[in-house]
Amino acid sequence: MIADPRAKTKLRGFFHHWLELDRASTIAKDAKTFPGFNEKVLADLRESLWMFVDQIVWSEKSDYRELLQADYLWINDVLAKFYGKGDAAAPTSEFQKVSFGNGQRTGVVTHPYLMAAFAYNKDTSPIHRGVFLTRNIVGMSLKSPPMAVEFEDSHFDPTLTMREKITAMTKDNACMACHSVINPLGFSLENYDAIGRWRTQEKNKPVDPAGHFANEQGQTIQLSGARDIASYAANSESGHRTFVRHLFHHTVKQPVAAFGDDTLETLRAKFTKEGCNIQKLLEEIAVIGAMDDVPPPAPPAPKPQPAPPAPA
Ligand code: HEC
Repeated sequence: MIADPRAKTKLRGFFHHWLELDRASTIAKDAKTFPGFNEKVLADLRESLWMFVDQIVWSEKSDYRELLQADYLWINDVLAKFYGKGDAAAPTSEFQKVSFGNGQRTGVVTHPYLMAAFAYNKDTSPIHRGVFLTRNIVGMSLKSPPMAVEFEDSHFDPTLTMREKITAMTKDNACMACHSVINPLGFSLENYDAIGRWRTQEKNKPVDPAGHFANEQGQTIQLSGARDIASYAANSESGHRTFVRHLFHHTVKQPVAAFGDDTLETLRAKFTKEGCNIQKLLEEIAVIGAMDDVPPPAPPAPKPQPAPPAPA
């Protein structure tokens, strides 16, 4: 196990980057729509996310799949008011690990801090959520948009749901080249409002999180909600490859392809075989990338020598 503080700093930096937490520093929600959603709540959400990540990553299993699929959140009394208390008996000012039933939560994919970061001030943003999932979780490349298009909520009939607005806006073939992947991934998170609360209705219509997309192998992946995205990324080679590629690139500061054609696949295969252990993956990467600020794993301790025979 890597216990080195430099490895911890490295991984913190990686998660900040992979989860695009820079966005979260500018979260500001409409006070009328979300009364009480203030700096204190945001600070607690941030704390909740880091407790979640650290506790999984620095556990024995260090399991990437749990990072995506865990059904619990770390909450305190402040967060419980917004997100519910799950199976907690009584929330207190101390954070506790609380499970939510009915598939409402699935790891970082639906953590409310990220849901709030990938959203507009009043409404969700399926496009920003979808772009994040496409690039960082599912691992498909996306070119930058040919031109900047702004989402102008006032241009739409106010009775439309966000899904209906985005679908209408991007229906042209020129848009669907990218948005045929972005949109369904983003729509799968429509059960989470702009501050990440679970919802089943929007504008008095039932939320529709279902959809499908074609992965890079051309297979059609059916989605009935957030858990399906998490499960796809947690249990597919392409999900594992994506995580390996991102971690390598961030920690070594060079793309993995610069280290030989087979390196990504070799690392991916080991990662899959080792139960998706993040600490072990970081060790493997440290060896290949010859990172000078994360020491390779220590050699095994020397075996105790048998005591010399007592002098006669
Ligand atoms: C080459 C891929 C691609 C094509 C083609 C494309 N987009 Fe996008 N679109 C993106 C990506 C990637 C983003 C996210 C940009 C970001 O946040 O950095 C995006 C973002 C958006 C947004 C959100 C803007 C915001 O900041 O609120 C809207 C709206 C949008 N696209 C509409 C369209 C429409 C309409 C078309 C067709 C005319 C289109 N896009 C074509 C890739 C594409």
